Amino acid sequence: MIPQQFIEEIQARTDIAELISSYIPLKKAGRNFKALCPFHNEKTPSFLISPQKQIFHCFGCGEGGGVIQFLMLFEKVSFVEAVEILAKRLGQEIPYQKTSPQQRIKTTLYEVVHQASCFFSANLAQDLKAEEARKYLVSRKLNKEIVKQFCIGYAPGRNMLLEFMRKKGVSLDLLEKSSLVTPKREGGYMDLFRERIMLPIFDIRSRIVGFGARTLREKENIPKYINSLESPIYSKREHLYGFNFSKEEVLKKDSVIVVEGYFDMIIPYLNGVRNIAASLGTALTIEQIRLIKRYTKNVILVFDSDKAGQMAALRALDLLLENELKIDIVSMPEGLDPDSLVREKGKDCFLELIQDKVDFFDYKIGILKGMYDFDSIEGKSKTAKEMLFTINKIGSEVEKYEYTKKLSSSLGVREEVLLLESRKLKKPGIKNKKSSGSDFLKEPVPITEKMIIQFILNSKKAAALIKNNLSKECFSHPLARKTISLLFNDFIENRNWSLPQLLGDIKDKEVARFISELLIEEKLLDKDLLKNCIVKLRSKRLKASKDGLRRELKEAEVKKDKDKSNKLMLRCKEIDSEVKT
Ligand code: UTP
Ligand code: MN
Repeated sequence: MIPQQFIEEIQARTDIAELISSYIPLKKAGRNFKALCPFHNEKTPSFLISPQKQIFHCFGCGEGGGVIQFLMLFEKVSFVEAVEILAKRLGQEIPYQKTSPQQRIKTTLYEVVHQASCFFSANLAQDLKAEEARKYLVSRKLNKEIVKQFCIGYAPGRNMLLEFMRKKGVSLDLLEKSSLVTPKREGGYMDLFRERIMLPIFDIRSRIVGFGARTLREKENIPKYINSLESPIYSKREHLYGFNFSKEEVLKKDSVIVVEGYFDMIIPYLNGVRNIAASLGTALTIEQIRLIKRYTKNVILVFDSDKAGQMAALRALDLLLENELKIDIVSMPEGLDPDSLVREKGKDCFLELIQDKVDFFDYKIGILKGMYDFDSIEGKSKTAKEMLFTINKIGSEVEKYEYTKKLSSSLGVREEVLLLESRKLKKPGIKNKKSSGSDFLKEPVPITEKMIIQFILNSKKAAALIKNNLSKECFSHPLARKTISLLFNDFIENRNWSLPQLLGDIKDKEVARFISELLIEEKLLDKDLLKNCIVKLRSKRLKASKDGLRRELKEAEVKKDKDKSNKLMLRCKEIDSEVKT
């Protein structure tokens, strides 16, 4: 844990213009600096830096924030790593806080699994009984270097790990928490991993968090692999096997090949295909996708050609598109996986296969073609629905349209009809965030609502005044409303945040971008303007509620409900007098 105060301090001591100018050339533009945005391609600069406010914002791609966000985006690092970089620049040590009990347990667990891994490695290297394991690894074409790099080991079983750890003074509780031992039915504990090849699973920072363990002898009645159970340091949703080794190459190649199994990652990697990671037999999770997204937007999914592989690919595809990743798919020839293919036919054969990748559209429609008859009306309709469902996950309207056109020619159904169908699909249970995102583009936030937010950001006094006089219902635009409710709840009331800190803390990217845009806009804001804005929004809101009241009033009159109509009339008058003041 890094103390909040320290984070604030190093942010305050870092000059954003100086920091960014050490990465890209800046030009002075009035009180601000301008540059070509490093986060998207552009020919004229729309990337602005405000030294006063210590923030940046790009009007082209919408990225924005303070020094920490800049580093996170530019260096592709996590929040903590960005703080570490800043501290280093300033020549400061991070005063890590005394850790919480949970943190302490985690630190101990990291140490325990690391010790276990050392034990397994030593056993593989030295133990007489590990000869079979050594032979097995040779038969799978692993060499000494790769065994060392991936910390591959051997678990002898016979409670040898348990005894080793007990001698070191590690408690049974910790051993159980790190899922290295398992309770016995008759009481007591035993090694969980027995007579298995041990493959440590690393997190992105190359810390061992768990193990996959492969049996040497495939038999019907025992699982081929057993894996660590979930623990405070290991959650299988969050890791991609081997990504810690391949992330630099992923960055360089700007793409990642995602395979299914441990050896499907190791063998191609060993043979020079280095932008590769494994999902470990599960469908890609949202956590894994976020991890990938820090390094690249281009994912090449490699799946078995069997039914299970196809289904896994189809599921992954929607999730990836929804998260704005570009995805291509490679189907393995029947009976082969990347491991056996590279081993038997060489890496070039694998690379050729990857060259033949197909995009999500061709992949999915290919599968559907095997399921439905495209010449029948029913087949067309089902395929259209299926395809449009996936196409609708794409963020870019242009791409969406292009794929709809492609679908039109594949099915022989007119574009207009598909677009109509697509709109129908989107309607029920509108959960599609992307489409609301594009609605915002069509409809700009009203200027008054923007200015009110700028007042809040720029002055505490104004913020208090606004909170006392306006409610979030006064804001008509959904984005403005979202922003206001966040500012009302967090920014004004509870905390004395600095602006860059606020920006860094906002989870909703759209809101963060909107705020950084408002911050960087130079506006002359004075008291009178503030009053005008407040009055305008209030009266708009009051008018709207009066319209509502009138409607109710009419209904009450029709129903001859004297009591109710009197009450409503009174309320209307109140509103009239409020509007005047
Ligand atoms: P596969 O059944 O395709 O195995 O499972 P594999 O990777 O080809 O295994 P090898 O080459 O025979 O060693 C793919 C992945 O699913 C997970 C493992 O991560 C495996 O690599 N898996 C599979 C398990 O967790 N448990 C199992 O029993 C089987
Ligand atoms: Mn295999």
